[in-house]
Amino acid sequence: MGQSRRSFLTRLATSKGFRVLHVLSDEVTHIVSEDNQGSGLWAWLRGCGLKLLPKMHVLDISWFTDSMREGRPVAVEAKHRLQDALPESSPAPPMAAVSPYACQRRTTTENHNKIFTEAFEVLAESCEFSEREGPCLAFRRAASVLKSLPWAVQCLGAARSLPCLGEQTKVIMEEILQHGHSFDVEKVLSDERYQTLKLFTSVFGVGPKTGDKWYRRGLRSLRDILEEPSIQLNRMQKVGFLHYGDISRAVSRAEALALGGIIDGAVGRITRDAVLVLTGGFRRGKEFGHDVDFLLTTPQQGKEEALLLAVLDTLRQQGILLYCDYHPSTFDISKLRIGWYDAMDHYPKGFLIMRLEGSQVEGGLQRDKGDDRGWRAVRVDLVSPPMDRYAFALLGWTGSRQFDRDLRRYARRERRMLVDNHALYDKTKKEFLAAETEKDIFVHLGLEYIEPWQRNA
Ligand code: UTP
Ligand code: MN
Repeated sequence: MGQSRRSFLTRLATSKGFRVLHVLSDEVTHIVSEDNQGSGLWAWLRGCGLKLLPKMHVLDISWFTDSMREGRPVAVEAKHRLQDALPESSPAPPMAAVSPYACQRRTTTENHNKIFTEAFEVLAESCEFSEREGPCLAFRRAASVLKSLPWAVQCLGAARSLPCLGEQTKVIMEEILQHGHSFDVEKVLSDERYQTLKLFTSVFGVGPKTGDKWYRRGLRSLRDILEEPSIQLNRMQKVGFLHYGDISRAVSRAEALALGGIIDGAVGRITRDAVLVLTGGFRRGKEFGHDVDFLLTTPQQGKEEALLLAVLDTLRQQGILLYCDYHPSTFDISKLRIGWYDAMDHYPKGFLIMRLEGSQVEGGLQRDKGDDRGWRAVRVDLVSPPMDRYAFALLGWTGSRQFDRDLRRYARRERRMLVDNHALYDKTKKEFLAAETEKDIFVHLGLEYIEPWQRNA
């Protein structure tokens, strides 16, 4: 309940001789809740590490009002109890410890701890801009753990037993709980270098290194860059500036589906024997993304690269391929050094910008006020793995990035296995393990299956 409501009820109860505690501990006998979903409250309580929780009464406000009327704690009846999501007969199990690996947590798109995770993401990004990889990863891991919780952290005690939260992250959480914001985060947000790098890297084709180079030359705005005669933009950056407004605007699910239909149409003209799958954030159930990711493959092993090239040709002929950065296959199973690739895998792929007509999108386009062009540009990644690599590629391209990272870390540390977008290697048996589906990969790794919509780590 809200703070003023709680103060009022506390005064009322105290005046009648009740003892009201402000900190949750094993001393508490009755927990009173108002306007709360039972399941959320129970999940939170289980995360608080109480020994005597099974003995406590978890009650609706009706028990409190009845007790105030009587002037004494009334006997608890069934109607007072706040129902758990679990059946009443089964004793509440202690909450399973939260795993330090994202691939052992279920993380939906519903984030109950945005106030913390958004702060950590700003700090992680700021570390990234100054190439401090250690702290960057620490902030990302902390954010990821908090995203997985089905309840909001409302006191630091509740976060006590969580993994991946170091001293520094706890200090920041404490600040946010007390003041509503963190001074470190405010400092970063008002920092000129952070603001400028954030702006520069929002241009397609501009990474932190280039952004920093421009910053150190005293450039501060996108106009500064375009007007600086000595700057030679590459092809990617030129198109990035050209379509800046469109590309920096989020892509909706309806737009992603429309693009899927268009690419599927192009595929259909070439072969009836192909699969096009939407991956990335949209496969994880996100409603918006910064781009649209597709996997394209065919059961005719070895024909996938030709298929991709033919699809790109068709899109080009339709006049809807505004930009195409094509990367031919560098995949060679006999030379595969698994676990060595970092950002880019070996499959043939196109990093594209496509033209999407508003008339093809259910509900219309995402656009700025006053924009009546009737179309927009969208960033699309189209990747073509061979069919026998499909499961690995799908798992990798579905993400999230943090989920993938922890999957590799878990495999290496806990199973002596190496996994990436191409394959899974067992170092103990010294052999590659085949997989037709994502589930096969989880089984090999001894992990419970995590659905795509639970991988928003
Ligand atoms: P994205 O960067 O598109 O992220 O990469 P996303 O989760 O879809 O988020 P938004 O909504 O677009 O912002 C999707 C997944 O593909 C992997 C990434 O690691 C991520 O998990 N990926 C990306 C690769 O495996 N290889 C690449 O070259 C690029
Ligand atoms: Mn994406």
